[in-house]
Amino acid sequence: MAKKSFSCSACGASFSKWSGRCEGCGEWNTISEDAGLSAGPSGKSLGQKRGSRIQLTDLAAEETPPPRTRCGLDELDRVLGGGLVPASAILVGGDPGIGKSTLLLQAAAKFAQSGLKTIYVSGEEASAQVRMRAQRLGLGQAPVQLAAETNLRDILTTLEAERPQLVIIDSIQTMWSDNVDSAPGSVSQVRSAAHELTTFAKRKGISVVMVGHVTKEGQIAGPRVVEHMVDTVLYFEGERGHQFRILRAVKNRFGAADEIGVFEMTGSGLSEVINPSALFLSERGEAAAGSVVFAGIEGTRPVLVEMQALVAPSPHSQPRRTVVGWDGGRLAMILAVLEARCGIPFTGLDVYLNVAGGMKISEPAADLAVAAALLSAREDVALPADSVIFGEISLSGALRPAPQTENRLKEAQKLGFSAAIAPSGGKSVSVNGLSLRQVSDLTGFVGEFFGAG
Ligand code: TYD
Ligand code: MG
Repeated sequence: MAKKSFSCSACGASFSKWSGRCEGCGEWNTISEDAGLSAGPSGKSLGQKRGSRIQLTDLAAEETPPPRTRCGLDELDRVLGGGLVPASAILVGGDPGIGKSTLLLQAAAKFAQSGLKTIYVSGEEASAQVRMRAQRLGLGQAPVQLAAETNLRDILTTLEAERPQLVIIDSIQTMWSDNVDSAPGSVSQVRSAAHELTTFAKRKGISVVMVGHVTKEGQIAGPRVVEHMVDTVLYFEGERGHQFRILRAVKNRFGAADEIGVFEMTGSGLSEVINPSALFLSERGEAAAGSVVFAGIEGTRPVLVEMQALVAPSPHSQPRRTVVGWDGGRLAMILAVLEARCGIPFTGLDVYLNVAGGMKISEPAADLAVAAALLSAREDVALPADSVIFGEISLSGALRPAPQTENRLKEAQKLGFSAAIAPSGGKSVSVNGLSLRQVSDLTGFVGEFFGAG
């Protein structure tokens, strides 16, 4: 008898027996028996049935890169990898109210003005509302076709007849497919709607951009499989109280992941920020204890950001460790290295770390900047205000050179900094007008800038 197999409809993991909760992704009630896969029509098991031969091609064959359309919003074009690739599927995630609809309406208008036939389908707002927003953004005359619709079958039929080159779906959670019984917004509806849309769009050569809401945990609501289905996943991030917005590529089959685009939310929509470093540093005052400037790389661009730390005696038995814009685990590691290798303990002290401007940093090269901010706050000693700092810290307390040192230094010089603190080793680089102070380990760094610690 053929062996039964089961698989999870959310993440695709397969199992030999049924269970209520998928061990792969943790979803409930998504595991079902795989139907009819174990035996072919002839009753023979699939393993013995012969398939037809597939065509193989040379890896070395010439292939031209896909033609791309640039919309003219450079920050968006760059995050897409240099423009929109035809028949690509893109998912844009972000918190409610962060500005996804605004961004995509502006993008739709720009792409339409660049010559792409564009349709904007809103499942959340009436056409009149979208039209009013367009007028407020000064895009009232853009040649974009609008629809307010949630029925996926009707949408696909319309796309079939209209044959646009770009369609925006705002949002995937509001779409419902009559192939699935469950309610709009449910996991299976989102998955099915995203699947139908992307396969249809690929077949017809239409690019599709889907908006996806984000859950409290920060993931695009609905199953992970939606992220696997599309070519590009972008997150639109920012703090509500701040005007900066960051569009970040977390997956891109047609360009670099980790690329960011920076925007500013204004009364008349999103405007591009051509020089993010200047913006992130604009609120910075005099040299202050606990504040350092990190010279980072985001995607293909250098970006300078201010790192702020506050260290204070804790009234709690378990001192606080609060991080905004950086990884909490990594902070714990830096604190442990400072204690174990340099003999500087943070026991009994609350530690707060903040990346100014609402940026999120994930680069290991930020380690040394974080350590510097923490030490500066703890010792109440300000680092020179004209210096930037970067470098990775290893568990042994050694410092590792960061990639793209030259780009970091050039950006610092361009923004008026005259010194940089960086690990020694690696390629030797020099930038006119910038003095480079190299340190080989954390103990040496502490000794040089904070006395013996
Ligand atoms: P929206 O694009 O509707 O967010 P989302 O689709 O992600 O839910 O943006 C909502 C916010 O943006 C709203 O609070 C008002 C603000 N906004 C501006 O500040 N300026 C503008 O020109 C527009 C259109 C919106
Ligand atoms: Mg919206």
